[in-house]
Amino acid sequence: MLFLQFPLLAVFLPGGDNAEELGLLPPRAAPEHVSFHVIQIASFANQSWAQCQGSGWLDELQTHGWERESNKIIFLHTWSKGNFSNEEFLDLNVLFRFYTIGLMRDVQAHASQYPIEYPFEIQMNAGCELHSGESPKSFFQVAFKGVALLNFQNTTWVPSPDSGSLAQSVCDLLNQYDGIKETVYTLLRSTCPRFLLGLLDSGKMYLHRQVRPEAWLSSRPSLGSGRLLLACHVSGFYPKPVWATWMRNEQEQLGTEYGDILPNADGTWYLRVTLDVASEEAAGLSCRVRHSSLGGQDIILYWGHHFSMNWIALVAVMVTLVILIVLVLWFKKHWYRFETGTYSC
Ligand SMILES: *[C@@H]1O[C@H](CO)[C@@H](O)[C@H](O)[C@H]1NC(C)=O
Ligand SMILES: *[C@@H]1O[C@H](CO)[C@@H](O)[C@H](O)[C@H]1NC(C)=O
Ligand SMILES: *[C@@H]1O[C@H](CO)[C@@H](O)[C@H](O)[C@H]1NC(C)=O
Repeated sequence: MLFLQFPLLAVFLPGGDNAEELGLLPPRAAPEHVSFHVIQIASFANQSWAQCQGSGWLDELQTHGWERESNKIIFLHTWSKGNFSNEEFLDLNVLFRFYTIGLMRDVQAHASQYPIEYPFEIQMNAGCELHSGESPKSFFQVAFKGVALLNFQNTTWVPSPDSGSLAQSVCDLLNQYDGIKETVYTLLRSTCPRFLLGLLDSGKMYLHRQVRPEAWLSSRPSLGSGRLLLACHVSGFYPKPVWATWMRNEQEQLGTEYGDILPNADGTWYLRVTLDVASEEAAGLSCRVRHSSLGGQDIILYWGHHFSMNWIALVAVMVTLVILIVLVLWFKKHWYRFETGTYSC
């Protein structure tokens, strides 16, 4: 079942010079894993003001939110419940509500005992990861003011390396509560992997969808004189793995710079690849885009062609204008003849 998910993680590598080979690229030897994790950010402004934000994530895709006023889980997709029943979610909701309220209250109560200055934030990241052919891994990491503080290992809270005396005393405190440790252990080791598998199944239509990218070129003067920064924009594709580069004929251009693959608001992805060239060398360059949604038919955009397209458009507009002017003049002339009585009916 997990194997269904792994194409999601496959990344295509640039091929050789032979265009025929390009359709048959091996997937990158990426670590084959998928995770579900919950992120919580608790902000404390002063003794009397604190708030908590929560969210659930399937790898990089947000699947759940947290409604702060009512302390309720928000399901962002129709399939966000996985295969859990409503009852199971009600139980989880109660658990998270108690945990959140308790956390905020206890931190406020204990903050005065430590030399902690307001404002501060506590960040938590907890979940599980499935690897092909391995047993699930789980994690629960806590950071304080953006620095790793402690994490949950096996069945104990352990201070992060170099985290100081605060982490040690917080761990000593937390380790006294066997009930909480047991609950955390069960959530991480049993509930999370079970939920993740169900989620991958209920969301498979969405997760396996293929959305074709759009691509376009742009340029701007580069720093050096007489140089251009050519940009190839690839946007709106899903899944994330994509390959794009600047080429001359079938030769990949070594100076190509790759941006990060950034998320669009609709869950698709965006990539920009740029090439810094001397202006006179820009002609003949092309941007080549490969993506699983394109079925082996790469998108190829030639630099310069869109300029000639602009020229064609300009010429077309001019010709149309000239024709219009001629027509207007012709009508004026004939209208005049009609007005002066040549026309009869
Ligand atoms: C606590 O912080 C909140 C939010 O910044 C602020 O509105 C409030 O006035 C503060 N209260 C006190 C007692 O400082
Ligand atoms: C985890 O804890 C159990 C019980 O405390 C112990 O038997 C086991 O060796 C621990 N495993 C690791 C990897 O620390
Ligand atoms: C959900 O799916 C997982 C994986 O297929 C399975 O282990 C589990 O028993 C199912 N049901 C529930 C309620 O978790």
